[in-house]
Amino acid sequence: MTRTYGDWPIIETSDLNRVFTSPAGDVVAVRDVSLKILPGEFVALTGRSGSGKTTLINLIGGIDEPTGGRVMVAGNDLSLMSESDITNMRRGQIGYIFQSYGLLPLLSAYENIELPLRISGFRKGARRQRIEELLVLVGLSSRADHRPYELSGGEQQRIAIARALAPKPPLILADEPTGDLDSANGLAIGTLIKSLTKSEGITFVTATHDLSLASMADRSYEMVDGTLL
Ligand SMILES: Nc1ncnc2c1ncn2[C@@H]1O[C@H](COP(=O)(O)OP(=O)(O)OP(=O)(O)O)[C@@H](O)[C@H]1O
Ligand SMILES: [Mg+2]
Repeated sequence: MTRTYGDWPIIETSDLNRVFTSPAGDVVAVRDVSLKILPGEFVALTGRSGSGKTTLINLIGGIDEPTGGRVMVAGNDLSLMSESDITNMRRGQIGYIFQSYGLLPLLSAYENIELPLRISGFRKGARRQRIEELLVLVGLSSRADHRPYELSGGEQQRIAIARALAPKPPLILADEPTGDLDSANGLAIGTLIKSLTKSEGITFVTATHDLSLASMADRSYEMVDGTLL
């Protein structure tokens, strides 16, 4: 069988486990999760509060370490990588989007998007070009110089998406990206995400309670007590 690039999983977890140990008792947050995600796929993780969605997203992104099993990202086994290799991989390969947006309040929309480009060593001219392109993409060119508090929740989330996309990561991980938005704004964000996976081939994995976002995904999994149904 011949393999094309698209057949190689960008994410592969094998028998992944995460147990949180505390004096109050152990919690198995992720239990035996084996999952393969191909480049360009849009995958949603749904499930009740406490079912393990955030923990799984954090394990995939190398923010947290498993207590069993392994995670491969773009063919790299995270357990064999040093802390600094993982940090570099996160910077170069993974964009994050959080429910609370995580924008820096003293920076303008433009400067927020610029930050990961500075960290990745893009020069000023290249940064400007990329930021202008992204502002058009998320429909906020006229708000470049505004601070986050001058933007609506949906607009802040669009800036957070632009920031995650800025260095062109092949993989975006999101935790409740539409959690704070009303349904119209949630739908706009979902539509934007869907079109990005198709037009730029970005892989998008999101934890979400938002069933309309989950319904736009190529695949959607429900988590129950740490397992993937
Ligand atoms: N640092 C931690 N220490 C101990 N237990 C934790 C820790 N983080 C998460 N847990 C527990 O692990 C389980 C899974 O939590 P997780 O945050 O992954 O759930 P979730 O599906 O994202 O929930 P929500 O929908 O509320 O965001 C929960 O029972 C939670 O209490
Ligand atoms: Mg969560």
